[in-house]
Amino acid sequence: MEKTPALSQIFEPIRRDLELVDLEFGRQVESQVAIIPTMGRYIQQGGGKRVRPAVLLMAARLLGYTGDRAVLFAAAVEFIHSATLVHDDIIDESDTRRGRPAVHARWGNDVTVLLGDYLYIKSMALALTHDTLEIVRVLCDATLKMIEGEIYQLTKNGDAAITEEEHFDIIRRKTAYLFGASAQIGGMLGGVNPEQEQALQQYGFNLGIAFQVVDDLLDFTGDLAALGKPVGADLVEGKMTLPLIHLLQQPGHRGGEIVREIIERRTATPPQWQELLDLLREHRSIDYAARKAVEFAERAKKQLAIFPPSSEREALIALPDYVLSRDR
Ligand code: IPE
Ligand code: IPE
Ligand code: MG
Ligand code: MG
Repeated sequence: MEKTPALSQIFEPIRRDLELVDLEFGRQVESQVAIIPTMGRYIQQGGGKRVRPAVLLMAARLLGYTGDRAVLFAAAVEFIHSATLVHDDIIDESDTRRGRPAVHARWGNDVTVLLGDYLYIKSMALALTHDTLEIVRVLCDATLKMIEGEIYQLTKNGDAAITEEEHFDIIRRKTAYLFGASAQIGGMLGGVNPEQEQALQQYGFNLGIAFQVVDDLLDFTGDLAALGKPVGADLVEGKMTLPLIHLLQQPGHRGGEIVREIIERRTATPPQWQELLDLLREHRSIDYAARKAVEFAERAKKQLAIFPPSSEREALIALPDYVLSRDR
């Protein structure tokens, strides 16, 4: 099989713009309240992959947009993503992110909640710099979906009986809509027609589902050093993900018992975890989730068929494959 290119290689057509996004991010967290730029820079310099802004930039360039608004909206999207992460880590009580202490682990929950709020509103303020209310609306809708997803997920926390459909509903909301909005906004800037705009939204949306399914898989198969966040954390947090949902649909094993015990105690002993991993492999539950991710990645790629060939289109087509093979 051909080796998937590294992310930096895929992002090559927009490398300069991504640097500008980082500059914009830094500029936008300036404040006379000194802790805001300090925390803002900590987030900005944390080594995030910048997948969402990159999707926006490449979608904008797809039909030759060269204006500077793409950088601004790309920064807005990364702001929203960052806000979610700092809040998400508080909710998940997860102390490590991007290989370093999570923001709340460093500065405490109180100021981190407020910084997340600041980033959310800042993203909207940034988007309002230009008179493009349709784009602000798309951003608001995606952000609301994301928060709904996080809230819905909380109401299902610790529920070992969650169905696959409920689980996908969470994933679509908490992750896929923002990816969809990123691609769609890029398209809107590029002046695409309604059919193309829809295709871009669907590209991002399906890519986002694949991205989250892989994120959930990496919680079983990844390692802390590459991932920069703890492995085996989801179930301990009470979060059921696709491999486990599949496993629990299979009869004749004690996986359900183990899962319920881990959820109840909020901790997994090494032998319990090993047994669970063995069961997941034995019942092909890891394969099942991986196949699902492939399905969504393929659906994403198909959307790009209606666009003329360009280096940006090639990059957007390569991105779902990267997502499938990523280890971080
Ligand atoms: C993490 O997103 C949250 C999920 C949607 C799984 P990323 O994996 O894009 O996080 P960074 O920005 O690269 O750290
Ligand atoms: C993704 O969920 C967070 C959002 C999209 C809001 P996770 O809880 O799986 O993300 P990580 O694993 O903490 O990055
Ligand atoms: Mg989390
Ligand atoms: Mg995760």
